[in-house]
Amino acid sequence: MKKEITYIKDLQEHINKTVQLSGWVYNMRSSGSLVFIECRDGSGICQCILNKEELSDNEWTIASGLKQESAIQISGRVVADERSLGGVELQVTGISLIQQVEDYPITPKEHGVEFLMNHRHLWLRSQRQWAAMRVRNGIIFAIHTFFQGRGFIQTDTPIFTPNAAEGSTTLFETDFFDQKAYLAQTGQLYGEALAMAHGLIYTFGPTFRAEKSKTRRHLSEFWMIEPEMAFYDLEMNMDLAEDMLRFIVKTILGNYASELHILERDTTSLEKLVDKAFVRITYDRAVEILRSEDTASLLDQMLEDRKTEKDTILQEQKELQKEHGSAKKWRKKQIEKRISDINSRVDQIDEDMRNLPKWKSSAQNFEWGQDFGGSDETVLTMQYDVPVMVTHWPAEIKAFYMKRDESNTYALGVDVLAPEGYGEIVGGSQREDDLDLLLERIEEEGLDQSVFEWYLDLRRFGSVPHAGFGLGLERTVAWICGLNHVRETIPFPRMMGRITP
Ligand code: 4AD
Ligand code: MG
Repeated sequence: MKKEITYIKDLQEHINKTVQLSGWVYNMRSSGSLVFIECRDGSGICQCILNKEELSDNEWTIASGLKQESAIQISGRVVADERSLGGVELQVTGISLIQQVEDYPITPKEHGVEFLMNHRHLWLRSQRQWAAMRVRNGIIFAIHTFFQGRGFIQTDTPIFTPNAAEGSTTLFETDFFDQKAYLAQTGQLYGEALAMAHGLIYTFGPTFRAEKSKTRRHLSEFWMIEPEMAFYDLEMNMDLAEDMLRFIVKTILGNYASELHILERDTTSLEKLVDKAFVRITYDRAVEILRSEDTASLLDQMLEDRKTEKDTILQEQKELQKEHGSAKKWRKKQIEKRISDINSRVDQIDEDMRNLPKWKSSAQNFEWGQDFGGSDETVLTMQYDVPVMVTHWPAEIKAFYMKRDESNTYALGVDVLAPEGYGEIVGGSQREDDLDLLLERIEEEGLDQSVFEWYLDLRRFGSVPHAGFGLGLERTVAWICGLNHVRETIPFPRMMGRITP
């Protein structure tokens, strides 16, 4: 017979049957002649109940000596139990040890982020990290489903490149057989060549930027999805980006509810965009909004609200602390959880209270012609409950390949800003399809024309209007999972100050 493994995610199909699971001890506790194990097998977690009466002496010794992350094989009867994780639990009839573990470094107590990042290879086993990686996988699959369903083909573009495409200040230089080469910042230029061959293409690959920014939105190595479409203009490009994002969010809300639950993601805001149009505004309008009286009073109001909220929950905390002394054991646990939630909320509020005045001043003093900073994006998006698409940017601050409008002042570019402070997740544009104008731009930017000759050929031989965009995978994962920092959205983040593990 073929060897098969039963996975925890499928246990609902095995109710009242005996199965064997292989996995690791996620958590355990004992009480007299009972041991309770939360066993994880990669597909999920199952509560397993071990009763001394049901086991051999040897098995009971194993059971009572288990440590966190010990590897085990365990067999037993699956019983339906509504209160349990996944709706089932396992009444264990046999257990064997694959490996006993001593002193697993990550314990259920709280650890600092640096410690966890240094143990990323193990941290990935924790439930929240597990859930985030599953959602990441779901987003990747949804992206392929979306584009493949619309007749796009996936193409792959080189990582060693001879030139910059997104500004020369963020290049990682490397040596390619004694010739200078750079790690790709984008696959776009090659994507344009492929779009002229196939009409509708997308790339899905790693990209590299040597940005010296330590922010919650920046990685040095990140994954980008770049569709490129022949005969598309800016508006069609935006329609596509909007449809894609809606499809991704719908898919994740539909198929990853339990992961979002583990991540404690409040999905109200995500649900809103499923059947609501995104906001589309020009850069000029965005600047007007930033500088407006309304925005100033909105920010003042938020500051007031935060102060009130802080007073209220600190009062609640005081009362809970009083109650704690004489509370029953189960209630004590509840109180401790609530107090710790209040503490993290207060930290968040304190940060907001420090930030809001700065955001206000940055918004009020915003100068036309600048790029939006992270806080400006936050201030813009908090006025709406759906993503905001900003178009028609001052040409000077956008890349050389963007087409300009008739006035020659504005680039036909679009940034999509995600709500809840997540900011830019998509950057795209209609491309300059005129050879002479493109030559002018290359010269203006001081770029070396010779390395772009192949790219210019695309304008010499059958040049057509075309457009595309790039979606940053990690920022999308952060937004959809509600994660505070992109470092938790990719298995092994590479960012300034971190190249291990
Ligand atoms: O806006 P960007 O720079 O656009 C391009 O690279 C174009 N060539 C795309 C195209 O039109 N084909 O980058 C696109 C997206 C950003 O909106 C952001 O989501 C993500 O890539 N991104 C980063 N993500 C994480 N860390 C960084 N350092 C990032 N830089 C950009
Ligand atoms: Mg951008």
